[in-house]
Amino acid sequence: MLLDLARSRQILFFGGKGGVGKTTVSAATALALAGEGKRVLLVSTDPAHNLGHLFNREIGPRPVRLAPDLDGLELDPEATVQEHMSEVSGALHSLMPVQMHGEIDKHIALSRDAPGMQEAAILEKMAEIVEQGGKEYEHVIFDTAPSGHTARLMALPEMMTAWTEGLIQRRERADRFAEFVRGLGSDSALAEDIVGEKNPAAEKESKIRGVLNRRRLKFVHLREALADPELTSFVIVLVAERLPVLETIELRDQLRKAGLAIDCLVVNKRLPAGAGKFLEERRAQQKFHLQTLGKALPEIPCEHLDLVAQDIAGLEALKKFSTGLED
Ligand SMILES: Nc1ncnc2c1ncn2[C@@H]1O[C@H](COP(=O)(O)OP(=O)(O)OP(=O)(O)O)[C@@H](O)[C@H]1O
Ligand SMILES: [Mg+2]
Repeated sequence: MLLDLARSRQILFFGGKGGVGKTTVSAATALALAGEGKRVLLVSTDPAHNLGHLFNREIGPRPVRLAPDLDGLELDPEATVQEHMSEVSGALHSLMPVQMHGEIDKHIALSRDAPGMQEAAILEKMAEIVEQGGKEYEHVIFDTAPSGHTARLMALPEMMTAWTEGLIQRRERADRFAEFVRGLGSDSALAEDIVGEKNPAAEKESKIRGVLNRRRLKFVHLREALADPELTSFVIVLVAERLPVLETIELRDQLRKAGLAIDCLVVNKRLPAGAGKFLEERRAQQKFHLQTLGKALPEIPCEHLDLVAQDIAGLEALKKFSTGLED
């Protein structure tokens, strides 16, 4: 069922609470698709470098080959913010007078650690990956950081669009004011005092607007891609325990508010039957929590994956695990 869903969507997001198996299941899905000859890109948005640990190798922010037809990359929030800030700083330096540069640098240094900065930078990268990756790969699979983060991330494109639109509108109002003052015409010295020299000012305005507009469009495209159910699906991985079940139900509500639906639940680490009295009791407990899940989210299809005896690390272990995915 998970595989079927994965085959039919270009973009797949795996979310869920910490340690439930997001990285393992998303990598197994990516590997299974690549095994069918599809070009797949696996992307980790988690700062914890999960993919590298799973594949036992260094994976950076540029795609590396993990298996035939499977590439992977890990977004690095710190480096992404750094890159983003030097772009912004470069643009501002070229647009503002030299005496302002000190102020700009101070502002940039403060913004680097501002709340939401890393998320916004990661989101911008995700927008680029969705746009660019969509051309080079048949499937792009995102392994995200634990739940709250995923829901916030999904709501962000809308917030960022509203934010950049607000800025653009402010600039447009400033533009109209400048036009108006220039239109007064007769007292050109006064007009220049208020709005600055005509041509350089207008050029700066349109450059700034251009930068803001490009950014806004990136978020608009990402938002459109996320909200298109033919293109994108959300999979939530969980284990059959009380808190992960409650969090999953909450996550469904949060995503729904952001206009997004969960298309598949993966209950991972299910205990096998006949494994002794202690595990039998845990199994009964799992069953109880799954009933809560089933009652709260009856409309979402659910796939179950067994707890396996060995650690899942390295390509071979992952391949073996991926054969357990339902068709
Ligand atoms: N079905 C399974 N059976 C046995 N071990 C599993 C199973 N699925 C995952 N694991 C193990 O559980 C641990 C956590 O898995 P994983 O890293 O995939 O979770 P995660 O949700 O990505 O965690 P994080 O939130 O930290 O990113 C790993 O050691 C992994 O090998
Ligand atoms: Mg992980």
